[in-house]
Amino acid sequence: MAIDGPAGSGKSTVAKMLAERIGVQYLDTGAMYRSVTFASIATGVDPADANEVAQLARRMDLQMDEDGTVLVNGVDATTQIRGPEVTRAVSSVASHPAVRRELVSRQREWARRRGGGVLEGRDIGTVVFPDATLVVYLNANPEVRASRRAGEVQDLDYDTVAADIARRDALDQNRETDPLKRAAGALEIDTSWLTIEEVVELLVDEVRAVRPDARPLEP
Ligand code: DC
Repeated sequence: MAIDGPAGSGKSTVAKMLAERIGVQYLDTGAMYRSVTFASIATGVDPADANEVAQLARRMDLQMDEDGTVLVNGVDATTQIRGPEVTRAVSSVASHPAVRRELVSRQREWARRRGGGVLEGRDIGTVVFPDATLVVYLNANPEVRASRRAGEVQDLDYDTVAADIARRDALDQNRETDPLKRAAGALEIDTSWLTIEEVVELLVDEVRAVRPDARPLEP
């Protein structure tokens, strides 16, 4: 199952809960782009240097545990990949085609080994798994998305978070390689006025409709 959408659309929480409900694993692909960004900052490589960053991506030893722990080349980067320094530079790292090639290949391998799963990101339905059982595009209005993010992060006020989200939206939607957009045929849900539980419920119903053999676990 493929879930895409902009920052603050609710996709991480929804993807995690949906995966639990249907008894499969979940992959946060944004955390992979953030991990490459962490590696580039940690080693003093300019995030804008496409060749150097792509090399780092290819060599990166990445371990992502189900509990959210992320080890990048053996270093615990769980907190830092969500920090402001990584968040500022991640769209630049994610714009390099060779970095995307490497991470897309790892994402396909991840799903192949498990016989499927729920993947969330920006290009899952358009590029990574266009033939997924369920392709979803989650959206929400910019004010709601900024309020959600501001509620999650400490030390940053609403205006700073709103400006960062607007900047990343523009970069992610306008980059040349695999920009964020709704995949043709994707189920689009505006989550602005829905609770997480309502969105998950809707998706569990959709999975049941397209894959009656999937045995969603009861809540
Ligand atoms: O979902 P997130 O905010 O953690 O993602 C961080 C950045 O990674 C986001 O600004 C764009 C990029 N990204 C991407 O280009 N493709 C993906 N599949 C996932 C994330």
